[in-house]
Amino acid sequence: MRDKFYITTPLYYVNASPHIGHSYTTIAADCLARYMRKKLGEENVWFLTGTDEHGQKIQRAADAKGLSPQDFADKTSVQFKELWKALDISYNDFIRTTEPRHVKTVQKVLDILLKKGDIYEGKYEGLYCTPCETFWLESQLVEGKCPDCKRAVERITEKNYFFRLSKYQGWLLNYIKNEKEFIQPDSRYEETLSFLELNKLNDLCISRPGERLSWGIPLPFAPDHVTYVWFDALINYISAVGSFDDNDKYHSKWWPAELHLMAKDILRQHTVYWPIMLHALDIELPKRVFAHGWWLINEDKMSKSRGNAVNPLEMVQKYGLDAYRYFLLRDVPFGSDGNFSEESIVKRFNGDLANDLGNLVYRTLTMLEKYYQGAIPEKGKLNEQAGKIEEKIKLLPIEVSAAMAYLDFSLALEHIWELINMANKYVEETKPWNLAKENKTDELKSFIRLLVDVIREAAEHIYPFMPQTAESIKEQMGQDKINKGKPLFPRIENPKPGA
Ligand code: MSP
Repeated sequence: MRDKFYITTPLYYVNASPHIGHSYTTIAADCLARYMRKKLGEENVWFLTGTDEHGQKIQRAADAKGLSPQDFADKTSVQFKELWKALDISYNDFIRTTEPRHVKTVQKVLDILLKKGDIYEGKYEGLYCTPCETFWLESQLVEGKCPDCKRAVERITEKNYFFRLSKYQGWLLNYIKNEKEFIQPDSRYEETLSFLELNKLNDLCISRPGERLSWGIPLPFAPDHVTYVWFDALINYISAVGSFDDNDKYHSKWWPAELHLMAKDILRQHTVYWPIMLHALDIELPKRVFAHGWWLINEDKMSKSRGNAVNPLEMVQKYGLDAYRYFLLRDVPFGSDGNFSEESIVKRFNGDLANDLGNLVYRTLTMLEKYYQGAIPEKGKLNEQAGKIEEKIKLLPIEVSAAMAYLDFSLALEHIWELINMANKYVEETKPWNLAKENKTDELKSFIRLLVDVIREAAEHIYPFMPQTAESIKEQMGQDKINKGKPLFPRIENPKPGA
């Protein structure tokens, strides 16, 4: 295993407020970053997130609010930062594409690629979707409209600058064929591969004329043009870690990234444009690109433009932060789409969190109080059922580690819950109150001590998913003497309508 871990989320557009979809990727990245920090040490993990602030979308959103794009970006970027704070996101760096450190790097990259002959001037004619800032081929349109946002496209002809994607198609295809782990999950790997096998790449138009769009980074060699927002944004992954700056930090420490995380909507930019840009620059490629699925509302993708966005803060206020984090990472296998509903949150809350975990912790604390005045007893002899639980305690780190290697958060949690439920079953079958009545003191001691061991082990593994809960368990049961608090997840008895 490599000894350092650099993980990124997409840089979210600041044209609208964050919703559950954005929080999903960032929580997943946070969970992995926390997990890896435990494994490799704090100083060996670097977690980057941030905001994508240039381009037409943002210019338009700012115009609509009567603000300058910069003022508008400043405002929304803060909303993302505030949300990450509320969601306990442990990022190391937050980059904004309007920061000088980023602008400088983008301009350097443009200069290098121009000198190399990989950027050239040409004429662009095409069908353009302004809200998505994407040119489409006639064949890609759906009923004559943008296949993404379903709005009208315009025919545009103009002088522009192009990046020679086509020159590198053969190289990329070969690279992907050899690096089977580069794109995950497998379905996304196959998607990229067949896209490259079935289509001839066009060169990428990477500029927008200033008269059409001024809100962007000017091309250093043609200041009457600004860079295409994707060409700008992708470079953040290297500009944030100091590429091309005076200290050139990235060569020594963080680059190449271990993992770029995102949803499937922006797969191609990360598996076609970005690898080719890096290769043209002679920079190593990231180790892994993982594109997860979408949160849907009634089978439709959740997004601001579709008007079905749910505010994560509302969910946190209603169900608590850790229940929200747990739900997102547990309910849907990472990589698949999932339907978002509060009914499912309540189900997970009352089942996995209140009945299973909360109950185990609370009943164990109560028994420790009742039988041992809160002192945690020594380990004792184990019967057969207890022996199996002890084996599971030993196996769990291996199971969790295997699941996390493939970002299978849901499976990792399933393994943790297997242990929790083995312990709950053990309580029900052992009937400790009888052991107490019958004065079987040794049995009772080793029984309760094993429950404490189970809970402590579970808390270790729960930490990356639910840091506050892990902390609270540690406070209550981490020492020789307990410090009993309130139940962790009191059942939701009467879910409100809509939930
Ligand atoms: N600015 C670009 C990314 C540039 S990265 C160099 C962008 N921004 S975005 O604000 O639209 O964010 C897209 C990302 O937000 C998705 O890839 C995903 O990480 C997250 N999600 C947005 N909606 C989502 C869902 N409905 N479901 C799951 N994730 C979603 O694209």
